[in-house]
Amino acid sequence: MKITNICCIGAGYVGGPTMAVIAAKCPHIKVTVVDLNEKRIADWNNPDINKIPIYEPGLNEIVEKSRGKNLFFSTEVDKAIDEAQLIFISVNTPTKTYGTGKGMAADLKHIELCARQIAKVSKTDKIIVEKSTLPVRTAEAIKSILDNTGNGVQFQILSNPEFLAEGTAVQDLLNPDRVLIGGETTPKGDEAIASLVEVYANWVPEERILKTNVWSSELSKLTANAFLAQRVSSINAISELCEKTEANVNEVAKAIGMDSRIGSKFLKASVGFGGSCFQKDILNLVYISKAFGLNEVADYWEQVIIMNDHQKRRFSKNIVQTLYNTVSGKKIAFLGWAFKKDTNDTRESAAIYVADDLINEQAKIALYDPKVERPQVLSDLNYLETRCSSQNEDSIQNFKNPYEACENSHAIAILTEWDEFKEYDWQKIYNIMLKPAFIFDGRNLLDAKKMNEIGFVYQSIGS
Ligand code: UDX
Ligand code: ADP
Repeated sequence: MKITNICCIGAGYVGGPTMAVIAAKCPHIKVTVVDLNEKRIADWNNPDINKIPIYEPGLNEIVEKSRGKNLFFSTEVDKAIDEAQLIFISVNTPTKTYGTGKGMAADLKHIELCARQIAKVSKTDKIIVEKSTLPVRTAEAIKSILDNTGNGVQFQILSNPEFLAEGTAVQDLLNPDRVLIGGETTPKGDEAIASLVEVYANWVPEERILKTNVWSSELSKLTANAFLAQRVSSINAISELCEKTEANVNEVAKAIGMDSRIGSKFLKASVGFGGSCFQKDILNLVYISKAFGLNEVADYWEQVIIMNDHQKRRFSKNIVQTLYNTVSGKKIAFLGWAFKKDTNDTRESAAIYVADDLINEQAKIALYDPKVERPQVLSDLNYLETRCSSQNEDSIQNFKNPYEACENSHAIAILTEWDEFKEYDWQKIYNIMLKPAFIFDGRNLLDAKKMNEIGFVYQSIGS
């Protein structure tokens, strides 16, 4: 089937950027991104391109290029489904917060709703593409819903996981290491795969487009994220050992990373990984493994999460201990709330957990993040349900200016590696802080020597 009309259900961090790039690279294809969330769609349609709901370097330009031409954002889900030959499902699949598998399994209610909607509306044959990260064998469940509609429409289900990382989404989409497409190993399945390959072939070299069966594709996505997260937890485990010895984790990372078998990426010690994927996908892997009775496999991967939780907790604990075992009533400046630089996404950000611990110790947090707004910060803290929302509001203050956030603070905690933090006038910040002036650098971002020379008591992860 030659694809000329695509619908994407879900206008989030995955669906939005991915469709913007497909539209830009395939001017002959009409791409409609739909979402139930009216505000989100209105934001994507905001005439002021700087107000689109997701911050990603380069995204504005690419959306602006096609929006209103062959890229559309709409709440008319049924219409878009009806018109499309190919439908991407990019809805969120958070970890379940209730019932069986609570805290572990993926909540597939949004996916199931999409499948039912597609089944209800479709009058012509369609290719359905899983874009969201899903537990292995979800395609089977989608297929079962679609095949039992009884209106004679044929569906082919493909798995096409997204490997983009936030903050570099546009670059990752324009120049992917690989595109993975899993489909049924039948002539109809092959045909569906070929149709999707043709879309990507508009800008991705064919040798980078991998074809597998559906289950391999679904499992590869979970495995890729588990391996990446495991590297971060591995180096974080070493960072604690470094702090007890004379070793420096940056030097260790560099030394091992130069071994071409290990490679240098994803070896940056930090206050802990965040983001919507790593923890969720590992929990998923653990849950599936347990379901098959593979307890050793489950325990092995679960350790990656245990290490990550430990890393966040020990960071906050260290702040309290260093500040003479009490932070009660003390102003602690937070630089960064996003889970990594160049994104306004805060899901599972380490900053949330560190703040929660410090608020428990009655600290007053003064936050500056270049892209995250106060309502998001409060919603992140309230989600933990540690205390009532008014207490959270009293305990954290947002600043539009980093210098004001740091003024009269006892300590600064660096939680996100925003580039601009390196450019600050640190002498000026030192002058306006209470003394001794502490910096707890959770990202190994600043120059230790320079900070010590200014007079800060400077501590970074793993040294
Ligand atoms: C990840 C995967 O990289 C991507 O392929 C997948 O599609 C989605 O999940 P993302 O979560 O957007 O992407 O960001 P990533 O760059 O992987 O960072 C995840 C977390 O790990 C961040 O909190 C980051 O700060 C942390 N991290 C990463 C480290 O602490 N150290 C590192 O060396 C690398
Ligand atoms: P991701 O990071 O996976 O893209 P997001 O939460 O950013 O996750 O985006 C998922 C989007 O999917 C949300 O905007 C949500 O409103 C939307 N969504 C969820 N279920 C449905 C549905 N049944 N129909 C349309 N949109 C949906």
